[in-house]
Amino acid sequence: MGSFIIEGRNSLEGIVDIGGSKNAALPVLASTVINGREYLLENVPDIEDVRDMLEILEIMGCTAQYDNGVALIDTRGLNTSQVPERLVKRIRSSIILMGAILQRTGNVEISYPGGCEIGLRPIDLHLKGLRKLGVEIHEKNGLLSCSVAEPTGCEIQLDYPSVGATENIMLFAVGIPGKSVIYNPAKEPEIVDLQNFLNKCGYCVNGAGTGSIVIEGKKLKNTDSVEYKIISDRIEAGTYLSAASSIKSKIYIRNIEKSHFKSIISIYEDAGCEIRETHGIIVIENKGRIRAIEKVTTQPYPGFPTDMQAQFMASMATADGITIIEETVFDSRYKHVPELQKMGANITTIGRVAVIEGVDRLYSAEVEAKDLRGGAALVIAALGAEGTTKINNVYHINRGYEKFLYKLQNLGVIITETNE
Ligand code: UD1
Repeated sequence: MGSFIIEGRNSLEGIVDIGGSKNAALPVLASTVINGREYLLENVPDIEDVRDMLEILEIMGCTAQYDNGVALIDTRGLNTSQVPERLVKRIRSSIILMGAILQRTGNVEISYPGGCEIGLRPIDLHLKGLRKLGVEIHEKNGLLSCSVAEPTGCEIQLDYPSVGATENIMLFAVGIPGKSVIYNPAKEPEIVDLQNFLNKCGYCVNGAGTGSIVIEGKKLKNTDSVEYKIISDRIEAGTYLSAASSIKSKIYIRNIEKSHFKSIISIYEDAGCEIRETHGIIVIENKGRIRAIEKVTTQPYPGFPTDMQAQFMASMATADGITIIEETVFDSRYKHVPELQKMGANITTIGRVAVIEGVDRLYSAEVEAKDLRGGAALVIAALGAEGTTKINNVYHINRGYEKFLYKLQNLGVIITETNE
């Protein structure tokens, strides 16, 4: 599972290049099966989740090559509509293959993804939307068997702007006759990126990023190859910003669209970080201890992202004052709290609310990454801590952060990875 050993009391200095967005790459990779074609995808992040998704495609008869951010995928050979259970369990977001494979073959068998480290994660909204579009879904012993006879476009009102449900519905609706409209969809930049990719493939999707997505369904011929560049990862950028905010730093973040993480930037500016943009590069300077933020609530985009909650908490653990965080998106996303407490953080949680009283400094300890973002939070905490921190189970971190160790070393952090 691997461990990071991090020497504390660091300062950060240098340039960091942000990789492709995990949450944009995964749905784009899934949607390559809708049409049997060749795809050349750029800015695909070098992370475990991507490797697992590519393995799923290969097991299902497609070919996939990956090198240095470029994925070459040929989905013409897709020869099954059964998604391998072992990998669905490993990579929860493979559930978005449901809409894509249904579109290609008219049926799909995929195991129910179940809960995960950050909560229950039901898929009722995915299923409700697909059913409305004419999909028949049977569930037995955790296996979802879906088939479709005569699908037609229709209007779907999502009770909650679920990212995955919006994607699954989009991927199925693009190829069915008639017009579909998704009301109250997720508005994340990754949804806009998926729309752009689908339109590049020849589909007709409009409105992503607004209050409704309109899809004029059509069947496409499997002819031309498609080339597409995936957007960069706003959460990865936010994580480096968070790291910079917790210790003395001057870092330059390259290859990120500033407008994609405005809500993150504004919170750290309020906390006292100096953030500016020059020639498309974001410069972050932190000269001393940052200020606590009275209250931050996680929300769907464009609100403050739940995927930044843990890293933000780690920054606030040594800020001047008291911060209150309310986690409204997931029901169980505070698994990093006991680990931060081991390092001396003063945090109390009551249900979905966490109260963080900033301490002067954190201390080294042996801690455990429980999930991806919680693991990143421990790294941030360790950067400013007194002594050498060991973070176990960094497998969780490597699932979603590209070359994390290397990028931190480049910024001057004394960090090593060990398998002992
Ligand atoms: C995606 C992101 C994840 C991010 C999350 C919220 C990917 C691969 N993952 O996850 O990093 O944290 O968005 O920004 O893009 N819900 C239901 N029923 C459903 C679907 C969701 O109740 O059918 C609930 C979930 O339990 C959760 C909330 O809605 O409490 C948000 O989930 P959703 O937006 O669907 O997140 P994911 O797509 O799973």
